[in-house]
Amino acid sequence: MLSYSIGIIGGGNLGRSIALGLLESRKISPDRIFISRRRLHLIEDLQAHGIKITSDNREVIREKKVIVLSVEPHQATGVLKEISQDITGEQMIISVVTGLSIRDIKELTGERISVFRAMPNTAIAIRQSMTCISTKDTSPENEDIVFSIFDQLGKTIKIEEELMNASTVLAACGIAYALRFIRAASQGGIEIGFDAATAQLIAAQTVKGAAGLLIEGGKHPEFEIDKVTTPMGCTIAGLNEMEHQGFSSSLIKGILTSYHKI
Ligand SMILES: NC(=O)c1ccc[n+]([C@@H]2O[C@H](COP(=O)([O-])OP(=O)(O)OC[C@H]3O[C@@H](n4cnc5c(N)ncnc54)[C@H](OP(=O)(O)O)[C@@H]3O)[C@@H](O)[C@H]2O)c1
Repeated sequence: MLSYSIGIIGGGNLGRSIALGLLESRKISPDRIFISRRRLHLIEDLQAHGIKITSDNREVIREKKVIVLSVEPHQATGVLKEISQDITGEQMIISVVTGLSIRDIKELTGERISVFRAMPNTAIAIRQSMTCISTKDTSPENEDIVFSIFDQLGKTIKIEEELMNASTVLAACGIAYALRFIRAASQGGIEIGFDAATAQLIAAQTVKGAAGLLIEGGKHPEFEIDKVTTPMGCTIAGLNEMEHQGFSSSLIKGILTSYHKI
């Protein structure tokens, strides 16, 4: 069990998902999870699980070892200014805010506080996130705390802060790219005979299985593709047609477009 309390500022899509993922992990007592947002009624349901909710950010950070900052980028500076006088050197901030650097945060909170950046994705709600974490903090104890939280919520890797934008695109935006693939596959599935719900189930489970082959098997995608593509068969015919239509190229270009936009 995690022995400290966690305060989450910003109970939106991601903040809420982190709270629910922690709850589901059963590695932290629900009454050690605190979460805030201004429109409190939108997180009232979390109370039923024992999570503490408030609209007072100063209350959400008071005596919490770990503070998760999960507001929109344009809201982050205001929130950090609001809480900075209450933050002590015993606490740490984990920011999931896109584009807000460790330096930006320390300029508002002071140098004494330990700052981590984490880039999870929305699959954190079902504890299947890919979370990239970076810090300039050299304390192994602090790093253990941060990884022990996000390890409950999916897979984690440590990256250099310079790669944070790239991880945002590949992992956080990546959820949308993968879902669009599943939607398109479902639509194709309907055209070849399945009802919409069945087509979606088949497409989604197939993507999950394909990912599992790489994550658990540790193989390169082409190794697994070669097993499916019999000579002159239907798989290679369809796959090549997709490539003629720009399948891989459109995905790579989309990733680069997101990256330049960020
Ligand atoms: N969604 C993703 O996949 C994802 C992945 C990685 C990182 N991120 C980053 O994570 C951050 C949050 O994303 P999100 O999708 O969860 O956004 P969101 O749904 O808009 O959540 C932001 C939340 O912050 C609350 N908030 C705003 N000002 C506040 C204040 N002064 N005090 C307390 N709460 C406040 C808002 O609620 P009220 O208006 O009710 O206060 C809102 O619920 C963003 O910086 C985003 O870039 C998102």
